[in-house]
Amino acid sequence: MLSKEQNERITRVGPHTPLGKLMRRYWHPVGVSERVKQGGPPVPVKVLGEELTLFRNDKGLPALVSRRCAHRLTSLAYGRVEDGGIRCPFHGWLYDITGKCIQTPAEPDDSKLKDSIKLTAYPCQDLGGLIFAFMGPSDKKPDLPRYESLAREDGTRTLDVYDAGGNYLQHVEGAIDTSHLSYLHATNWSQTKKKLFSMPKPVLESRETTYGLWQKSQIPNVTIHPDFGNSDGIMQTLYTYFILPAGFLRVQEHMPNSGLVQKIQSWYVPIDDEHTTRYQVGFSPAWPDGRPYQWPTERTEDPNVANDYFRDYENTDTISGIPVTAHRTPIMPNISYIPQDTMANEEQGAICDRTQEHLSPNDAIIARMRRIYFTNIDKVEAGADPAHVLRDQDEPIHYIRGLEEGELV
Ligand code: FES
Ligand SMILES: [Fe+2]
Repeated sequence: MLSKEQNERITRVGPHTPLGKLMRRYWHPVGVSERVKQGGPPVPVKVLGEELTLFRNDKGLPALVSRRCAHRLTSLAYGRVEDGGIRCPFHGWLYDITGKCIQTPAEPDDSKLKDSIKLTAYPCQDLGGLIFAFMGPSDKKPDLPRYESLAREDGTRTLDVYDAGGNYLQHVEGAIDTSHLSYLHATNWSQTKKKLFSMPKPVLESRETTYGLWQKSQIPNVTIHPDFGNSDGIMQTLYTYFILPAGFLRVQEHMPNSGLVQKIQSWYVPIDDEHTTRYQVGFSPAWPDGRPYQWPTERTEDPNVANDYFRDYENTDTISGIPVTAHRTPIMPNISYIPQDTMANEEQGAICDRTQEHLSPNDAIIARMRRIYFTNIDKVEAGADPAHVLRDQDEPIHYIRGLEEGELV
């Protein structure tokens, strides 16, 4: 349980909030590289509560500037990308990718107006198929971490992006909460619950690391699906990794004993206090015989409250009645837990009211993660760098490492 003040402190993302200032010390994905074409239409985006315009100039450089033109504030997302920057649709003012106004064509030729006009603009970089932006103070800009999922070149990668309702923190908490797997995601519930209730209880262990948190979970596996065999009634060991500022890494063997170890990394980027974009990148090395791994491509519509998260209560044997087979992504091609996860995370409320919760011993990692946020908010307020801000790494790949022998990571 948190006090109201504590809950505000780790959920509000605006520029002048404690958490917002912490978030602005890290790079965040703000778009998908191939969807923002060179010289193509600008894209309106909202990140950390700020309304912005994302575009790629006619030289191919990504840029993120204010949504609104400095003149009379219409949307630059309806402008034209040309002449090295973006031109406002209203009176043709032109801005370069640093936000500097370089033309005011309707003004007299000797006008000096443009020299005093500058938009908010944030540095951007493409990596691993995503556009990352740094929205913090320019003298605090760290390296963009070259995680394996983004930077490895000895395999293939895919990505998936979707928006969800609810504050970013409940989505991150949902990701690191492994005890829900045996319940929210259990299939054949009416049968497996009989075994589940007599099985050993989860054993969860976590440790703080330089990047965030390491977790080892031993939990009952009650997922029954042809792809995974009948694993009903087996205790499984999972290792998971929380990566600051709001990320999560899952390492999985494609199929048991396939030898194909894939990295699935997620970034939960606050759109504003009450909405979140999840960027998910999957990286797979080649099969042991050298064939590249082909990621599936089918993608069905996002689950949300309007489609009832695909719930089919009468015919689906899960607790919620939400099936695992109604949704497809390149990363979850046969079964997708995303509708169940999205439901559980969104339905905690726009901003989960943590003054009302009752944490259990199984939630120790959640309490621990919140302490990491509080500690790092304090650090930023004291003028220091928060944890996992990387500088001068000069490394081709930044590895997230586990703590035990036998971890796939
Ligand atoms: S509002 Fe943009 S040029 Fe006038
Ligand atoms: Fe889940």
